[in-house]
Amino acid sequence: MSLDNASTPAHEGPTAVVVLAAGSGTRMKSRRMKVLHELCGRSMVGHVLHAALAVAPRHVVAVVGHGREQVGRHVLEQVPDALLAVQEQQDGTGDAVRVALDALREAGATSGTVVVMSGDTPLMQGETLRGLVRDHEAAGRAVTLLTGLVPDPFGYGRVLRDADGSVTAIVEEKDATPEQAAVREINSGIYAFDGAFLAGAVGRIGNDNAKGEYYLTDVVAIARADGATVGAHVVDDVAQTEGANDRAQLAGLAAQLNRRTLERWMRDGVTVVDPASTWVDVTVTLAPDVTLLPGVQLHGATTVEEDAVVGPDTTLRDVRVGRGASVVRAHGERAVVGEEATVGPFSYLRPGAELAAGAKVGAFVEVKNSTLGPGAKVPHLSYVGDASIGEGTNIGAGTIFANYDGVAKHRTTVGSHARTGSNNTFVAPVTIGDGAVTGGGSVIREDVPPGALAVSAGPQRTMEGWVFRRRAGTAAAEAASRAAGQEGSITSPG
Ligand code: UD1
Ligand code: CA
Repeated sequence: MSLDNASTPAHEGPTAVVVLAAGSGTRMKSRRMKVLHELCGRSMVGHVLHAALAVAPRHVVAVVGHGREQVGRHVLEQVPDALLAVQEQQDGTGDAVRVALDALREAGATSGTVVVMSGDTPLMQGETLRGLVRDHEAAGRAVTLLTGLVPDPFGYGRVLRDADGSVTAIVEEKDATPEQAAVREINSGIYAFDGAFLAGAVGRIGNDNAKGEYYLTDVVAIARADGATVGAHVVDDVAQTEGANDRAQLAGLAAQLNRRTLERWMRDGVTVVDPASTWVDVTVTLAPDVTLLPGVQLHGATTVEEDAVVGPDTTLRDVRVGRGASVVRAHGERAVVGEEATVGPFSYLRPGAELAAGAKVGAFVEVKNSTLGPGAKVPHLSYVGDASIGEGTNIGAGTIFANYDGVAKHRTTVGSHARTGSNNTFVAPVTIGDGAVTGGGSVIREDVPPGALAVSAGPQRTMEGWVFRRRAGTAAAEAASRAAGQEGSITSPG
């Protein structure tokens, strides 16, 4: 992309891909601009830009208008050298393309193939766009439309053809006669144009139609009137051409895209037990022989290595799961689960949780910004925050790493092969040495040297007969009384 200077070798791709994203998308009924709504790990326009880059265009132009700061910033995050063209008023797709061509002219790009697509057709694949460009350039047309035959064409522009099948015009839903509305071949809103033809034609589009807008689609009739060649590139996989104008359509497209993503992984050797309840972002990477059990959601940069089992009912975002690991009914974010490590059920890995090979985070455990060494275990009901736990160490049930004094976070270090008792509190900053042991119920505020036993709970005091004196007449006193009668040895009410 953007290989503008003269010394660059001949460029293969089209001159530009123009992405229209100036509309607010009123049908979404949202404060967020339509093209920024997400599905399967990317915004709608993010998917479109991704497909656009696959045809290796010299320029990517995004037309922004409504919410231009939001949308423009987002586009530049994905394609840093994209050109942003501002459409001040949303007067229609034809006007939007005029604005894009102005930006291209300023960048010195006036000829060659210009692809135009909408920011709201997120299933479109780069491969399909490459097919459109190849077909368009091989046929040497002025305009090539990407079209498809759909069962329900409602809302789309219909492709009109003459008796010998040549494309004559596109008519919008609102302007269509009943016969035209019955046509099932729809305009995907994706086109390849000859740039010079397009530059001449956009200025001639009128706005005498039901919406009073400048329709890009009118360029087809203009080309015909000029005797320029127009053709359609019909795709079989019509789902790729579908747009989302409201949230119901967005959910429909998300389900389709997810289904496609899962099918691709299944063909690559991943077991997906229940595709209907499994959601995998397009940005996730899975290895062969991974198993995803029902109710799994994998997001962002999550990667899962071979033989790992995830689920059931697990959500991971930006988590690395190592070979042979198991993650059951867990929630994780920006964490690492090492080879053969196990997590869950019902545990929470927060950012910076890193489990080395064979480590275990058991049931009802929360881990944040902490490392567990190889084979280290935190099996039950614990909070581990800002800690390093050494190799082979076992943390007792119900342990709290008290990392926060109300002002600052502090670290706790537990050495290797240590055994800490149940219901301990480690008051950070504190260090427990290699091979050290702590007693049950201890509150550890001072460092424990390697090999030491630390016990902080005081000696137990037992007050015999207390219940008979202070809880007389209760069920507890009666139970104690019965026990005294049977055993004859327990201090009795007397
Ligand atoms: C458009 C096509 C229709 C096609 C459909 C495919 C026109 C007139 N109609 O209709 O034939 O079947 O797409 O999905 O082109 N936009 C701007 N500036 C504007 C208006 C729109 O940038 O002034 C952008 C929108 O943000 C959107 C895209 O252009 O990303 C398409 O606009 P939209 O209103 O969704 O067009 P449709 O009614 O779907
Ligand atoms: Ca649309």
